[in-house]
Amino acid sequence: MPENQTSPEQLRAVLQWYADMGVEDVIGAEPSDFSTWANRGPVSAPQAPRKAPAPPPGLGQTQKASTPQRSAPSPVSGLEAPMPTDEAIALAKSLAASATTLTDLRSAIQGFDGCPLKPGARNTVIDDGIDGAPLMVLGEAPGRDEDRIGKPFVGRAGQLLDKMLAAIGHSRFEDEMASAYISNSIFWRPPGNRTPTKAEVAICMPFVWRLIELAKPKVIILVGNTPTQALFDGAPGITRARGLWREHQTSDGQTIPALPMFHPAFLLRQPLQKRLAWADLIAVRKKLESA
Ligand code: URA
Repeated sequence: MPENQTSPEQLRAVLQWYADMGVEDVIGAEPSDFSTWANRGPVSAPQAPRKAPAPPPGLGQTQKASTPQRSAPSPVSGLEAPMPTDEAIALAKSLAASATTLTDLRSAIQGFDGCPLKPGARNTVIDDGIDGAPLMVLGEAPGRDEDRIGKPFVGRAGQLLDKMLAAIGHSRFEDEMASAYISNSIFWRPPGNRTPTKAEVAICMPFVWRLIELAKPKVIILVGNTPTQALFDGAPGITRARGLWREHQTSDGQTIPALPMFHPAFLLRQPLQKRLAWADLIAVRKKLESA
C-alpha cells in the first residue's frame, strides 16, 4: 500500500477512538476527509466535539493507591465527579421553588449542573408550545434530533405526536389550534437513547413538577412508562396504565387529571396499537371539554 494511504485498520482505529470519546454523529457542519487524519500526526478533532460523559459515581475512587501514574491528569471540563444524587435533588428542589415564572424556571434548568447526563448532551431540552395551554404532554427524554435542535419531540415520534394532537384539535404551534404545551421527564439526552435511570429522573423531577405547577394545564397526557412512573410512583407498566385516568396534585393545591398513553415512538413500531391511542385521545378531548 502506498505510504500516504490509510489502511482499513488505521481507519477503524480512528473511528473507534471517536466512538470511545462519545462522538455519535458522523455529519459535521464542514466537510472533512477523515481518511487523511491518521497520517496527520496529532489528530485534530472536528469542531466542538461532544464532551465525554462524566464517569459514574465512584469511578476513579476505586483505583488502587499503588497504581503507577506518570503524571496527574489535567482537569478536563465535563469529567469532574458528578454531584451526589441527593445533593442534586436538593439543589433542583430549591432552584425550582425559587422560580416564580416559566421564564425563571427555564433559566434555572439551563444553569443546573446536577444531572450527570448534561456533560454528554449538546443542548438542554426543556419545553415547547404554548405557555399556559390547557393541554400538556409529558414525554420521556430528548432523543438525537431533540438534542441537536434543542426542542422536545422534533423527530419522527414528535411528528406523529403533532398529528395525534391535531386529530383532537390541539397544536403546540402558534396556529389556529394553538393549545398544547410539551415537555419531558428529563432535559438531557441519555447516551444512545437509553431509558433514563431512576436517579436521573429523580434529579429532574423537581423541575418537572414546577413546570406543571407554573404552566397550569387542565389535562396532562403522559406518553410512555417514564413520565407515568415519574409522576405516579408505583404505577404499572404502560400497557396496564394506559387509558386509566389519574390525578396529579401540585404542591400549590391544583388537581390535574393525567392520562397515560402509548408513546408515539411505540406507535410507530406497533401501528395496530393506534386504535387504543385513538380511544385515549378521544377521552382527552372529552376531559378538556368538561374542564
Ligand atoms: N421522545 C420523548 O419522549 N421525548 C422527546 O422529546 C422525543 C422523543
